[in-house]
Amino acid sequence: MPPAAPAPPAARPLRLRVAIAGATGFAGQELVRRLARHPGATLTMATASQATSGPRRLPALARLWDGEVRPFDAAALTAAADVVFLALPETASVEAGRAFLDAGLRVIDLSGAFRLRDEARRARWYPATGALPAGVAYGLTEFERPAIAAARLVANPGCYPTAALLALLPLAALLVPGADIIVDAKSGISGAGKTPSERTHFSENHGSVSAYGVLHHRHAPEMEQAIGGAVTFTPHLVPLDRGILSTAYVRVPPGTPDAAVAACFASAYADAPFVRVTGAELPEIKHVAGTNFCDIGWVLDAPTGRLVVVSVIDNLVKGAAGSAIQNFNVMAGLDETAGLL
Ligand SMILES: NC(=O)c1ccc[n+]([C@@H]2O[C@H](COP(=O)([O-])OP(=O)(O)OC[C@H]3O[C@@H](n4cnc5c(N)ncnc54)[C@H](OP(=O)(O)O)[C@@H]3O)[C@@H](O)[C@H]2O)c1
Repeated sequence: MPPAAPAPPAARPLRLRVAIAGATGFAGQELVRRLARHPGATLTMATASQATSGPRRLPALARLWDGEVRPFDAAALTAAADVVFLALPETASVEAGRAFLDAGLRVIDLSGAFRLRDEARRARWYPATGALPAGVAYGLTEFERPAIAAARLVANPGCYPTAALLALLPLAALLVPGADIIVDAKSGISGAGKTPSERTHFSENHGSVSAYGVLHHRHAPEMEQAIGGAVTFTPHLVPLDRGILSTAYVRVPPGTPDAAVAACFASAYADAPFVRVTGAELPEIKHVAGTNFCDIGWVLDAPTGRLVVVSVIDNLVKGAAGSAIQNFNVMAGLDETAGLL
């Protein structure tokens, strides 16, 4: 018998160099927390704004990541990374995103700047963006994997659209055409970022709940783009640190069995590691806090066809940093759960 061929050397896992712009923000710190220990990434640089006078540390992440956050420097970030995560205000993302693309980096942008494909809608809601660069994908991972894998820039979805769309998109074939789609959602205060405003000030928010942006919120056109129809969206601020609970009100044909709804979700999420379908056991924000999960439950009134779908996410994880890393994993050809479980 001929001697057995020597075993090929074990393939070394590929580690991409990643950098984070906006690392001192709420979403940026969640990126640091996870990317510092990601098996397929080496975190090479993290920046804050240029207003930062010098390098600073992130006390909440001591021992998880002991690097220094430096003032924003596009040239240094370009030299340091293969992939850059932008957790910036959207106007800063526009300029930085284009510069990094021109330099040949791949970009994952957490802002809304590059999310809307329709030019008129983009001009209305994100006037600083202008024309979309080539190679942009909308980053709702569960529905856009091939586009994300090939993208140069992934426009990570908004937090409210993530919760609402994961609840609604699987039902597309079941909904009564043209019937109202209503999304009523509640968010914790961290959704507004770290700079306090009158609405997000502790003394204003504590002990209160308020609706805002009614019929005038930029996440509505993002939902409508994915759904292909009108959405009535009302967001609320609730006195929680983090988390979103979205309640969607839709119509299916009267007599539709509950099993038909269950089948839609089962088929959409058979291979989705971060969507947990809970059926009649309605999900709660605490079930997903600190995780990249989206939990989805529903109640159907079969005789009338009224269907209420409740979904929950952590706005800073599945609604921002976690889904950005999930998209990074898809772009890099890694296991979708790497660094996230
Ligand atoms: N918060 C959420 O739940 C959430 C969810 C989904 C998407 N997003 C989006 O993610 C992005 C970041 O949100 P966030 O809530 O983390 O914001 P944030 O808490 O306000 O943090 C913003 C970060 O950007 C830096 N920065 C500000 N202006 C800059 C500039 N001109 N150039 C470079 N860096 C600059 C800040 O640095 P300094 O510390 O020096 O100010 C900080 O690190 C936003 O576009 C937001 O819409 C947020």
